[in-house]
Amino acid sequence: MNKISIVGAGMTGATTAHWLAERELANLVLVDVVEGMPQGKSLDMLQSMPVIGRDVSILGTNDYADTAGSDIIIITAGLPRKPGMSRDDLLSANADVVGKAATETLKHSPDAIYVVLTNPLDTMAYLTLKLNKLPRERVIGQAGVLDSARMRAFVAQETGVSVENIQCYVLGGHGDEMVPLTHHSNIAGIPLRDYLPADKLEAIVNRTRKGGGEIVNLLKSGSAYYAPSAAVAQMSEAILKDKHLILPCSVYMQGEYGLSDIFFGAPAMLGRSGMEKIIEYKLDPDEKALFDKSAAAVKDTHEALKKLVKI
Ligand SMILES: NC(=O)c1ccc[n+]([C@@H]2O[C@H](COP(=O)([O-])OP(=O)(O)OC[C@H]3O[C@@H](n4cnc5c(N)ncnc54)[C@H](O)[C@@H]3O)[C@@H](O)[C@H]2O)c1
Repeated sequence: MNKISIVGAGMTGATTAHWLAERELANLVLVDVVEGMPQGKSLDMLQSMPVIGRDVSILGTNDYADTAGSDIIIITAGLPRKPGMSRDDLLSANADVVGKAATETLKHSPDAIYVVLTNPLDTMAYLTLKLNKLPRERVIGQAGVLDSARMRAFVAQETGVSVENIQCYVLGGHGDEMVPLTHHSNIAGIPLRDYLPADKLEAIVNRTRKGGGEIVNLLKSGSAYYAPSAAVAQMSEAILKDKHLILPCSVYMQGEYGLSDIFFGAPAMLGRSGMEKIIEYKLDPDEKALFDKSAAAVKDTHEALKKLVKI
């Protein structure tokens, strides 16, 4: 049986464990600093396995030693946004937490593939890669599956077409400058920009960009967790089943899209070795301009990180 350890047993971490257990993909470990909480949630979840008929073990712990031999480490530890905050506002609080999670887990699972969720996402993935000195295949940020799923959900609501027919690609940084592509996104092969009137499409693009903030404002404390954790479960499955599945992910660029030394959202092929390949789309000049603007924002956050942490 494969093993997945999730650092941070809060809303996103625990819900990730839930989706993963349902898929019977791996034995699971939930780690958190709060004593008793990961143990309690894990025991509760473990007791639901007989009901849904899944044979997986779920262990809650405060000890990184229990993560030993993990195939995948998922990092969701750290503060979520409050209303009015941007993801970048979390940088200094979360850099320490993610740094510790990354280095402590690597000691016990030297071959693990990392999937990072903590915000600011692209920069926390960058921190994990740099601190742990890993090849880029082994560190992937979760953003694009979620942002694209939000857009898919809005398109389905607008059109009444099944979500299964709707493919959307939201690329770029996981912030307000993210880039929902309206030509590559399609309904059963028809580009969205040909299917929907321009005003409706623009409204969907804008709502997608602010999709996380909309939920933060409604919840008033905490941020989204069902869709983010479903996204990371899909990524984990693609890795462990060696599916060579192309999903929008935050990946370390080495020249792709004209970008280097930055984590940025692009379609990437996921398989047993992690991030196997970055797919380069042909972008029209408008899309390229949005891409560059988003990359500049992510670069700024990477630079702010370098002032806080020696990497
Ligand atoms: N990339 C994405 O799409 C995405 C989606 C959802 C949430 N997030 C981010 O994930 C993070 C967690 O969100 P959440 O909603 O689960 O928050 P949460 O507050 O419910 O859970 C965070 C957990 O991290 C734990 N924690 C804090 N410091 C720790 C440490 N040093 N070691 C281990 N655990 C530690 C806390 O005790 C808490 O249980 C936030 O930064 C949020 O912005 C990202």
